[in-house]
Amino acid sequence: MDGPLVALVTGANRGIGLEVCRQLAGLGYAVVLGSRDLAKGERAVAGLAPHGRVVHPYQLDVTDSESIERVVWAATLPDDGPTGGFFRDGRPLKW
Ligand SMILES: NC(=O)c1ccc[n+]([C@@H]2O[C@H](COP(=O)([O-])OP(=O)(O)OC[C@H]3O[C@@H](n4cnc5c(N)ncnc54)[C@H](OP(=O)(O)O)[C@@H]3O)[C@@H](O)[C@H]2O)c1
Repeated sequence: MDGPLVALVTGANRGIGLEVCRQLAGLGYAVVLGSRDLAKGERAVAGLAPHGRVVHPYQLDVTDSESIERVVWAATLPDDGPTGGFFRDGRPLKW
């Protein structure tokens, strides 16, 4: 598959998860930064410059089965394979 590997990190708007996102982005991964509050995830991504361009916020609450189903659905849309299927607001993410 072409393009960078995609990593999904949960609980990533602060703490260890945020640092994992920073380091994975630095290693060249396209990173999906999961946070239960999307606004917090967006702020965390904004603070990750210069890596922010390859880190994408995504709403994910690991205690909410509907939230988990949404992220699994988004990640496994068939078009571009398991890591090419992430969508946000109906549009594919640009890695
Ligand atoms: N820090 C350490 O030295 C250390 C050492 C060993 C183990 N750990 C463990 O590693 C984990 C992370 O530690 P941390 O220091 O990074 O913790 P933290 O700073 O408290 O961050 C926890 C993260 O998890 C998110 N979160 C909480 N409930 C969630 C849910 N239901 N769905 C999605 N995300 C959720 C929080 O989001 P909100 O901002 O929305 O609350 C936050 O982003 C914890 O389980 C901790 O016990 C930490």
